Amino acid sequence: MMEGNQDRLAIDGGSPVRRKPFAPRWPMVTEAMRRRVLEVLDSGNWFRGCGENNRKFEQAFAAAHDCRFGTCVTNGTHSLQVALLACGLEAGQEVIVPSWTFFSTAQAVVAANGVPVFADIDPATLNINPAHIETLITRHTAGIIPIHFAGHPADMDRIMAIARRHKLFVIEDAAHAHGARYNSRRAGSLGNVGSFSFQFYKNLTAGEGGALTTNDESLHERIQAWYNLGHMPKNYAQYRHDWMGGNCRMTEFQAAILLESLPLLDEQNQRRRANARRLNELLRSLQGIGVFDPVGDVQSSCHVYMLRLDEAQARLDKQRFVAAIQAEGIPLTVGYTMGVHEQPVFQELRFGPYTGYQRTNPKLSYRHLDLPETRRAAREVCFLPHRFLVNSDEGDMGDIAAAVEKVLRVTERSRRSNRDKRSCTLAK
Ligand SMILES: Cc1ncc(COP(=O)(O)O)c(C=O)c1O
Repeated sequence: MMEGNQDRLAIDGGSPVRRKPFAPRWPMVTEAMRRRVLEVLDSGNWFRGCGENNRKFEQAFAAAHDCRFGTCVTNGTHSLQVALLACGLEAGQEVIVPSWTFFSTAQAVVAANGVPVFADIDPATLNINPAHIETLITRHTAGIIPIHFAGHPADMDRIMAIARRHKLFVIEDAAHAHGARYNSRRAGSLGNVGSFSFQFYKNLTAGEGGALTTNDESLHERIQAWYNLGHMPKNYAQYRHDWMGGNCRMTEFQAAILLESLPLLDEQNQRRRANARRLNELLRSLQGIGVFDPVGDVQSSCHVYMLRLDEAQARLDKQRFVAAIQAEGIPLTVGYTMGVHEQPVFQELRFGPYTGYQRTNPKLSYRHLDLPETRRAAREVCFLPHRFLVNSDEGDMGDIAAAVEKVLRVTERSRRSNRDKRSCTLAK
């Protein structure tokens, strides 16, 4: 019997499940945003020292994340670095980070002259595994940077208990977690400092940008110095510099956009969550697919929808699976393909002038580090960015699920028919 076109994968010339492009409409521009940006332009107050937008946004953003203090910075990589310096990291001290993260989490530690020590993840959330953190603590450990990966808060009760026991600082990498909630509190208020990114693909964006949040006044004062060339606000006029900080200031244009975007965040996150839930229900019964449900009393910001392709069950590798899904018209991506410790820069220890590790770990090497759950996630976990959840509807989620179902079904059928042909040939 001839194969119907619906039953041929689009990657093999069949018709795709979806022809209509996804219209992510991201970033979303409002009239209020446009007006405020033009006000900055026309006023000439483009620098934070002349305008009001940075200050207003810092207050509003901190309050929205259950914090007393906020500081805008250039991006979410610098915010991590400023947080580390403000927490008092010294050359060669170790900071425990998950390897399943974006490069910046570990890069910031090296750029602050510290040593990243990589932990494995919990397969249920892909967040840092607290049990593994415990085993990595040495006399050189200064802190922990958990990530609220994809917007799902990390297991902060256990992480904070470990930190208290060992007198470590905790910096939440909340680059994915704007507006996320853990028990009764917002991400960014759970550790000593929260670090956020406003890069283009984040749930709250100004193209680039970042922020730090804290409830600790003395830490806030140090952040204020470290992000702005080491001078304390009271000493600006005297050109007096007390610390070796760089220039991490954000412009008034970015703050204007963010100030008008923040009130929209909670409602946008609700839509992301509703679509993530729908997709989970549509996909959970498919053999070979694992979905991620919220664990504990949390509200994820659903920065990324994650899907696990169980390699063993689906008998399909992630690269081929994602290429086939994309051909069906669905913008799924392969996501991370390795843990950060496997990146060439860590394997080869190409740290340039950041030689702090030689003080404490002269034999430092990441070559033999094996983190099984990170390795498995890199092979199996695919990403659908939040911008395809925020303005999508049930029909869009249905198309995504139909494409996944089709790729798995057609692949399985062709495997079976190849196997049958082989056994016929053998029987002859
Ligand atoms: C987990 C995580 N941390 C930090 C960053 C760095 O943020 P930025 O791009 O604003 O420097 C990112 C950015 O993608 C990220 O995903």
